Amino acid sequence: MTAQIIDGRALARTVRREVEQRVVALAADGVVPGLAVVLAGDDPASQVYVRNKAKMAARVGIDARTIRLPAEVSAGDLLGVVERLNADDTVHGILVQLPLPAGISAAEASTILRAIDPAKDVDGLHPASLGQLVAGEAGFVACTPSGCMRMLRAHGVPLEGRRAVVIGRSTIVGKPMALLLLAANATVTVCHSRTVDLAARVREADVVIAAVGRPRLVRGDWVKPGAAVIDVGINRGDDGKLVGDVHFDEVSQVAGHLSPVPGGVGPMTIAYLLHNVSLAAARRLGGA
Ligand code: GUN
Repeated sequence: MTAQIIDGRALARTVRREVEQRVVALAADGVVPGLAVVLAGDDPASQVYVRNKAKMAARVGIDARTIRLPAEVSAGDLLGVVERLNADDTVHGILVQLPLPAGISAAEASTILRAIDPAKDVDGLHPASLGQLVAGEAGFVACTPSGCMRMLRAHGVPLEGRRAVVIGRSTIVGKPMALLLLAANATVTVCHSRTVDLAARVREADVVIAAVGRPRLVRGDWVKPGAAVIDVGINRGDDGKLVGDVHFDEVSQVAGHLSPVPGGVGPMTIAYLLHNVSLAAARRLGGA
């Protein structure tokens, strides 16, 4: 079998067109959705991500601004920036790019994310947003899991009653991903670095979401023939090229659907950030 490749770039264009339509509707009410991205330090990957987010936001008519702060910024100063953005009515969405610099402790990072007004939490990482997801209430859902769900939906991958394996238990991808699959009535297993016989767990799955950050971890003989495999990994190979968590050449011979890296989940993550920003603006107006 040769997998159908899930084209994240094409699907992200569709999502951006939907966002554009909402932005046009908001303009009729005199609202321009605003996104503030806070980038502390000089992590090279973060610089690229943030540049892409701002570029794509501008394309759909979102007013995006990037607040750049030095790597030595204090947690107090970062909190001050978040509080200023909370109070700014031209800002509908706030995103604090992760990872924060090494000088900010995990506890401080958590305090900073908690300080974001949940109504502006377009990253879906505030405990209130995560709690809403657990409770099945409307809130903001993290962008990467939202993008993965849209990819599965767009390709008509059945989820109800099927076995889904999520590899990775991060707050940003693995945990919200598992909750979304569960909400779609899949039978969900979350695997991680301590999982015994990971290959055997993956072999049982009709849907595999790989989000661990280990280059080409998922091999062809781990995958059930016909399974849908979504590769969230973005790893830099020895040759400097981007590789996912899935061994593309092997798995594409076995899977029914497969998302590539690059050109898979990455563009969808950004598209769903824009979706969330337009949703935040619409909600403030009372229209969504
Ligand atoms: N770093 C890598 N991906 C993300 C993301 O989706 N949101 C934030 N805030 N930081 C990230």
